[in-house]
Amino acid sequence: MKTKLIAPSLLSADFGNLERDIEMLNRSQADWLHVDVMDGRFVPNISFGFPVMKTIQKFSKKFVDVHLMIVEPEKYVEQFIEMGADLVSVHYEASIHLHRTIDLIQKRGAKAGVVLNPATPVLMLEDIIAEVDLVLLMSVNPGFGGQKFIENTYKKIAETKDLILSNNSTALIQVDGGVNLENAAKLFDAGADVLVAGNAVFSSEDPERTIELLKI
Ligand code: DX5
Ligand code: ZN
Repeated sequence: MKTKLIAPSLLSADFGNLERDIEMLNRSQADWLHVDVMDGRFVPNISFGFPVMKTIQKFSKKFVDVHLMIVEPEKYVEQFIEMGADLVSVHYEASIHLHRTIDLIQKRGAKAGVVLNPATPVLMLEDIIAEVDLVLLMSVNPGFGGQKFIENTYKKIAETKDLILSNNSTALIQVDGGVNLENAAKLFDAGADVLVAGNAVFSSEDPERTIELLKI
């Protein structure tokens, strides 16, 4: 996988015009399509589940990146993969048997990511970093789009990079929350490989152009 990737989050799309928004992403320079699944238990919000995933599978031509903000993610990862997920990321904080869940995702043919909330230290990944395909650093508290970026994320990117290097891991670093045209270049420079952007893309006047600018 190449680096400097943009993954627009569908959470900020117009669900009354989902097909139109997915087609816009298909035309754009977006690399991945980020799918935020929330259960109202792990996070204080409910987003969407399998019916929306079905629409994504039908129309998206992009790599489908599923971010599960749910308790007991191991119960659902296989179904998301069957419905077209290319990458499934589960929260460290929601996974009692993280190693088993990562293994299950990969055995079913998808890439596996682990997600850290802003208050979870990077060092918790020491014994799983060699196994994962991606580390997703939350740069806001998960649950809602359009929140303010937490600056401590830069420190966590550096720590994750060190951890990856010292373990000969091939994991990509993804950053999610509050990414915009002001901080994107700085985040790539700091070592992020994939940036998620919801509000910055969908609330802009020209989402396709914004996606292009986020890569510069
Ligand atoms: C937050 C989600 C994010 C969110 C990002 O819980 O995981 O993917 O949609 O949204 P913005 O880019 O609007 O902060
Ligand atoms: Zn997300």
